[in-house]
Amino acid sequence: MTTFVGVQDMVRWLGARGPAAAIAGIAARLDDDLRRWPSFEKRERIASHTPFGVIELMPIADADTYAFKYVNGHPFNPATGHQTVTAFGVLADVHTGYPVFVSEMTMLTALRTAATSALAARYLARPGSRSMALLGTGSQSEFQAIAFRELLGVDQLRLWDIDPAAMVKAMRNLTSLGFDVRAATSSSDAVHGADIVTTCTADKVRAVILADEQVEAGMHVNAIGGDCPGKTELDPAILERAAVTVEYEPQTRVEGEIQQLSATFPVTELWEVAAGRVPGRRAPDEVTVFDSVGFALEDFSALCFLRDDVAGTDLFRDIDLVAEPDDPKDLFGFAMRGAPVH
Ligand SMILES: NC(=O)c1ccc[n+]([C@@H]2O[C@H](COP(=O)([O-])OP(=O)(O)OC[C@H]3O[C@@H](n4cnc5c(N)ncnc54)[C@H](O)[C@@H]3O)[C@@H](O)[C@H]2O)c1
Repeated sequence: MTTFVGVQDMVRWLGARGPAAAIAGIAARLDDDLRRWPSFEKRERIASHTPFGVIELMPIADADTYAFKYVNGHPFNPATGHQTVTAFGVLADVHTGYPVFVSEMTMLTALRTAATSALAARYLARPGSRSMALLGTGSQSEFQAIAFRELLGVDQLRLWDIDPAAMVKAMRNLTSLGFDVRAATSSSDAVHGADIVTTCTADKVRAVILADEQVEAGMHVNAIGGDCPGKTELDPAILERAAVTVEYEPQTRVEGEIQQLSATFPVTELWEVAAGRVPGRRAPDEVTVFDSVGFALEDFSALCFLRDDVAGTDLFRDIDLVAEPDDPKDLFGFAMRGAPVH
């Protein structure tokens, strides 16, 4: 039998654990996994593009466990009542190849993305950061806010979105969570004086969500919305004067903000900072950028954390995903057990 966490079980798990504790748990697991980065077999994700969006498979493995996530990114989906991002993921036992754990990952992706962003910011943002501008207040935004409060103590938020309804939604959700939150009148109004700027917008264009002149000395920019070829959010001049950290360089060169720069532009991988090989922030006035596209290790860590956390609870069910004949060579006999006897 394969363990399955579906949408209802994920909602029950989040209700029982609380999103902040879930994010903190995923971040701690990811921090540990980043420190053993060389023990993973890694590759860029496999992307299938259309003019409307992208469908991606994100595989990774260590010596015991293989993981992959199926995820889409369709920025025009909300106009037809669909979400921009949906996902599910699988863990398999490397020794038998059997899938052992399957989970919904639409919500888990939001949790792991927020955990990754806040973990990176803990290494890169100025110590004592309290305020954050959120540019783009769609599905990811509340999870980002919760993660930054949980891991860094950020509790002052300024929101900006071109969709007034998305701003109203985020104001409502974040106010009820106890944040000091203000609806900005423009992106510049949101960004001015903030310690951290998170860009989480969705459009399939080279957009300038954040202009160079908006970025003040010492700011940390958490750029998560530019995550595939032809889809960026930052003025490239910001990158050129910043210390840029990425997840997995070969993937980010193609998908991240740095696709706008030369292939030799220097970047640091997040695992190097987590492992203590490279310092995070070097000076109070340094501009730091986390150029995030989402990497398979984050899904691996989130799936492993969830698998371990639901073990021994009633927050999952078993599904018969794998045919298991008593005689492993008699798949035919097993398959025909339901056929009428003549
Ligand atoms: N880096 C990662 O690991 C990661 C993970 C998940 C999602 N993402 C990306 O993050 C982005 C946001 O995802 P989501 O699920 O919240 O999408 P969403 O569609 O729910 O929300 C995006 C919001 O951006 C707003 N927006 C679009 N253009 C804007 C602009 N110019 N200025 C201000 N706001 C603008 C939209 O009105 C919308 O409210 C997507 O591009 C998605 O692909 C990245």
